[in-house]
Amino acid sequence: MSRRILAALGSAALALSMAACSGDGAGSGNTSDEKPSDLTIGVSMPTQTSERWIADGNSVKEKLEAKGYKVDLQYAGDDIPTQSQQVDQMITRGANVLIIAAIDGTALSGQLQAAADAKIPVIAYDRLIRDSPNVDFYVSFDNYKVGVAQASALLVGLGLQTKDGGKGEATGPFNIELFAGSLDDNNAHFFFNGAMDTLKPFIDAGTLKVKSGQTKIEQVAILRWQQEAAQKRMEDLLTSSYNDNSKVDGVLSPYDGISRGIITALQNAGYRGADEIPVVTGQDAEIASVKLINDGIQSSTIFKDTRLLAEQAVVAGEAFLQEKTPEANDSETYNNGVKVVPSYLLPVETVFKDEIQKVLIDSGYFTAEEVASGQSRN
Ligand code: BGC
Repeated sequence: MSRRILAALGSAALALSMAACSGDGAGSGNTSDEKPSDLTIGVSMPTQTSERWIADGNSVKEKLEAKGYKVDLQYAGDDIPTQSQQVDQMITRGANVLIIAAIDGTALSGQLQAAADAKIPVIAYDRLIRDSPNVDFYVSFDNYKVGVAQASALLVGLGLQTKDGGKGEATGPFNIELFAGSLDDNNAHFFFNGAMDTLKPFIDAGTLKVKSGQTKIEQVAILRWQQEAAQKRMEDLLTSSYNDNSKVDGVLSPYDGISRGIITALQNAGYRGADEIPVVTGQDAEIASVKLINDGIQSSTIFKDTRLLAEQAVVAGEAFLQEKTPEANDSETYNNGVKVVPSYLLPVETVFKDEIQKVLIDSGYFTAEEVASGQSRN
């Protein structure tokens, strides 16, 4: 039997079990005859230290409330026990659907079992929850392609490739260093794999040299995606591998906060103006980094429109509340260690300085004033 059919059967079974349990009180998964105002959606977000998660939380909440649902939105301060406790509370307070962006993708199995026991559908938001059969749906971006886009942006920044994928004018060789996200975040592995598949031919050919020799994800990962930890690692790299007057030409960075840590380390070490700072990539189009891109300091970022992701989470949540199966556009890629989770994946866009106006300002994501000041109004 194909995975697609299995997934459909699984969802049908879930819908049936939800129907069977309808109306039995708190956490009954729900029923289509209840009014939105009788239904609560628990939304668990990882942290408020990164503005993307604030935007995600706000968008999901606003969109659900606009449809009349009650929303229980919690941020966990990047602390795993706090997130577990918050999800536990959402379940005991009678959430009808859970939308969760996990801090550690493997740490919520107990909570998800409790949710399953109470017939509460669980939607993994942007980060897949691993090692649990009780993840019903996944909304995210195409995370492998994010990694490909980051590596391609590095190649374009260095002049080895053109934006349309053609051969660039530069020949190298260039010194680069690699960074990855938090190992407990499933996405970090997809980003790194996509990036390394793209960079490998250039590394093999000697066009790109990872001077530190650190090319394994375990060597280059940054726990909890922390800016300070990234700054420290870049400082260490500069001391250990670039103390012979050699220069770093490019850095693969998986997230704008990490990029800013890297840039600070480079600036402190004497790489100053736009022409001295190496090509540094990023992700999330955080306003502080968009300003750095506009100023020629950071080279690029990958824009993930959190408004669209929030919309998909709401569509999926509402489908569960109406005892329907949310529409997936990928039923193969995201195996969480126990099962393949049906997913809805959104596309991403690479933003260099030239794309800021069209992709970020014209779309209403930021105003020109926000980009110029590096501060968002929210
Ligand atoms: C998200 C990225 C984000 C990172 C750090 C990942 O799970 O997919 O968009 O940059 O977490 O918050």
